[in-house]
Amino acid sequence: MKLPVIIVNFKLYEQATGDNALELARIHERVAKETGASLAIAVNPIDLARVAEAVNIPVFAQHLDPIKFGGHTGHILPDLIKEAGAYGTLLNHAEYPIGNEKIIKSLERCREVGLFTVLCADTPETARDLVKYNPDLIAVEPPELIGGDISVSKAGPHIIENAVRMVGENKVLVGAGIRDPEDVTIALSLGAVGVLLASGVTKAKDPYLVLQRLVGGLKQA
Ligand code: G3P
Repeated sequence: MKLPVIIVNFKLYEQATGDNALELARIHERVAKETGASLAIAVNPIDLARVAEAVNIPVFAQHLDPIKFGGHTGHILPDLIKEAGAYGTLLNHAEYPIGNEKIIKSLERCREVGLFTVLCADTPETARDLVKYNPDLIAVEPPELIGGDISVSKAGPHIIENAVRMVGENKVLVGAGIRDPEDVTIALSLGAVGVLLASGVTKAKDPYLVLQRLVGGLKQA
């Protein structure tokens, strides 16, 4: 996956599930093709196979479980996520924290099956503690800003600076409240290699336009 990247987490917004997930994924693919920017999406496990088959951009799972084939009713098996066409997975999202033991095991299973990992952390300090487990990228998202109107870039530029300083270069994504091009430009100019966002795109009236504008922020940096 090319960096810098914009990863849009579809979560379980109605506008980003089922047939809507497919349509929104195609919009991302279109913007990626038209602009040459690196765009990726994270979709729910039910829609994953259908979406991954339909588009030619990296598709992430939103979560998986650190298990192998066997008696694990209701769990999400990393091998099947890979087989469904996923490029990688988010792990430990603020809306689905899993604790250190599961983080370590999940990262191990992802390496075994060949899934790219974006490990989420609530603070730069947590990110610093987690980087030793060797995820491919760490996404720092202050939980109190998730889904809100004020972005991490504007409310907490020091958070981005600290995260990059504590975790290292080429490793940090930031997210929470990202919704305009300036948010992206600020994040990148402070050393992040991409952004993770959701509502700014999934709840937009015109996601195509919003994505084009966000890519403008990427190019500006
Ligand atoms: O995974 C991205 C997310 O938690 C940020 O959400 O809606 O603040 O962009 P949002």
